Amino acid sequence: MTLPLDGHRVLVGVGGSVAAFKACQVVTDLRRDGAEVKVAMTEAATHFVTPTLLRALSGHRVASSIWEDDPEAGHGMSHLDLAMWCEVQVVVAASADLIARLALGLAGDPVTATALACRAPLLVAPAMESAMWEHPATQGNAATLTARGGRIIGPVYGRLASGHESTGRMAEPDVIVAAVRELLVGGA
Ligand SMILES: Cc1cc2nc3c(=O)[nH]c(=O)nc-3n(C[C@H](O)[C@H](O)[C@H](O)COP(=O)(O)O)c2cc1C
Repeated sequence: MTLPLDGHRVLVGVGGSVAAFKACQVVTDLRRDGAEVKVAMTEAATHFVTPTLLRALSGHRVASSIWEDDPEAGHGMSHLDLAMWCEVQVVVAASADLIARLALGLAGDPVTATALACRAPLLVAPAMESAMWEHPATQGNAATLTARGGRIIGPVYGRLASGHESTGRMAEPDVIVAAVRELLVGGA
């Protein structure tokens, strides 16, 4: 059976938002659609979801520190291998802080270091309280990423971690996966 993302290579970056647990669904759905998936996560993200779980779901070692020794990367710079390997990088549970670092071109963690070294398209799914999302700093940072060719998916209106209903909820995993499919295979 042919799957829509057969043969495609997707890097999922995970940030330190409450929505990080939904990265598990994104990884699972991308693999269901045939993609090979690798995961990079920030240190903050590991407080919300474990590298062990994402390794089990992705079938690959997870980059959770730029200092860890990856036996597959002989030079010890797995962010460079991931950057070369992926056809698209999709950053989910993107916190306000992570979006700011991406916009600034910082590279102090596996997600931003890979993004800076990567020439593949960047998709970003923000997740935060509405006040953080609506802050001019965050809006400016998201606009910077868009102006560089990145695509911001969501956030959407809905129930937030605080219990309030507002805009800041991460787009649902199926919407994020559909955006990846559209980018790689034209929505087929
Ligand atoms: C329980 C908890 C929940 C949090 N949820 C969010 C969130 O949903 N969105 C966000 O932008 N920051 C959130 N934060 C703050 C981020 O975790 C913090 O800014 C962190 O440095 C972000 O890490 P990152 O930049 O690696 O994603 C939360 C913090 C805590 C302690």
